[in-house]
Amino acid sequence: MDLSPTPKVISSEKQNSTLFLAIAFGQHGRSTRGLARKSLLLSSISLAILYIEFGVWKGHSIKYFADKYKSASSEFYGFDTFYGFPEKCLSMEKGHYSTAGEMPQLNDVRIKFIKGLFQETLPIFLKKINFETKKKTVLVHFDAPLHSATLFTLFKLSEKFTNYYFIFDQLGTEECRALNNFNESTLSDYDLYFASLWNRAPEVVFGKLKS
Ligand SMILES: C[S@@+](CC[C@H](N)C(=O)[O-])C[C@H]1O[C@@H](n2cnc3c(N)ncnc32)[C@H](O)[C@@H]1O
Repeated sequence: MDLSPTPKVISSEKQNSTLFLAIAFGQHGRSTRGLARKSLLLSSISLAILYIEFGVWKGHSIKYFADKYKSASSEFYGFDTFYGFPEKCLSMEKGHYSTAGEMPQLNDVRIKFIKGLFQETLPIFLKKINFETKKKTVLVHFDAPLHSATLFTLFKLSEKFTNYYFIFDQLGTEECRALNNFNESTLSDYDLYFASLWNRAPEVVFGKLKS
């Protein structure tokens, strides 16, 4: 059975997608075939986004995105147990990536961390977010990368957001199965704008979910 999503659209929504693309792939220092130009990075600064990250660990990626999106109205929420994986993940044991409950100390008031299992914290968070927050351009960074956690977050988010940009950090892992399960069962669709390749398979993937 082929579980890999095939990029269907390469950048049809030029403006937003190239902005996110440049930023998402800048993080990984990979070539974006000429798209990750400085001008794009600069023009993204004014965009107010709602950035949600599943899997924070020491805060490297959330800091990266907060540094790029400089608008004071942007909001950054990072979800993690801060005690590592709640179950075995690939070759890594339960507890891998633990910071012993410590949350990153980042000097940016726009960044907030939400500690606990996604399955417990995300439903509460989604009930609480206000109208202004919901109106922002949403970028979700999936970096758990467990099947259970990714599938849960995809379903739960779909109750609130129908169209949002996503980054799957390691689609070549269980994230792919979760995305596929989600799309099959909800009949939702997505555009894939860009994927970096690892062993010829998509690895870091940027796109947009559509209901
Ligand atoms: C690969 S690390 C994240 C790396 C991070 N984005 C960075 O910039 O380095 C994955 C994280 O997901 C968290 N995680 C996995 N499943 C989770 C769940 N169900 N609830 C909360 N946190 C979870 C782990 O605790 C771990 O810190």
